[in-house]
Amino acid sequence: MVGPRMESIINITCVTPGTESGVQAVLTASKLMAVNTADSATATLAATTPEGDVVGCAAVERYGENGLLRSVAVLPANRGQHLGHYLVAAAEAEAAEDGIASLYLLTETAEAFFAALGYENVDRADVPKEVLASDQFAKLCPSSAVAMRRHLIETT
Ligand SMILES: CC(C)(COP(=O)(O)OP(=O)(O)OC[C@H]1O[C@@H](n2cnc3c(N)ncnc32)[C@H](O)[C@@H]1OP(=O)(O)O)[C@@H](O)C(=O)NCCC(=O)NCCS
Repeated sequence: MVGPRMESIINITCVTPGTESGVQAVLTASKLMAVNTADSATATLAATTPEGDVVGCAAVERYGENGLLRSVAVLPANRGQHLGHYLVAAAEAEAAEDGIASLYLLTETAEAFFAALGYENVDRADVPKEVLASDQFAKLCPSSAVAMRRHLIETT
């Protein structure tokens, strides 16, 4: 018998006190900075198995009508099963619902992954100053990290 498809058994929901440590563990395993899930301007999502184990995460920090997509990570053992794509789609849906028009991100390791999802490279000079002032932009080295952007809502 063929088992259920992964996407039908993984649940993507907002982080809770019960999934917070699991999210940080996924980030550590993925060599990414911890996320401040208590920050009211940050929406953090956790992907969990039916047993409640966190296997992936994503977060959006809000800066007015712009957002910083960060902390997109999947545990190494669970990669390559579309979970990363689902997490980005869920984060984008949350952001769009909150009225965020454009998402920015920085990545040192996954430029092609985000390009396949419609993100385009952007000069730091074209990144809004509030996003530039975020910890991510301040702490990640410009020479090794690529800035990318995707418009969620077309502005006229
Ligand atoms: C990037 C990451 C979230 C992808 O998760 P995933 O669940 O394996 O991704 P998916 O299964 O949805 O996507 C798979 C596709 O993306 C590609 N892909 C996955 N990781 C990639 C990477 N780091 N670079 C380029 N392409 C990548 C795969 O080759 C695959 O392509 P295909 O559909 O043409 O076969 C995961 O590799 C990860 O946690 N990396 C470490 C953390 C990180 O770098 N995060 C991004 C910065 S915020």
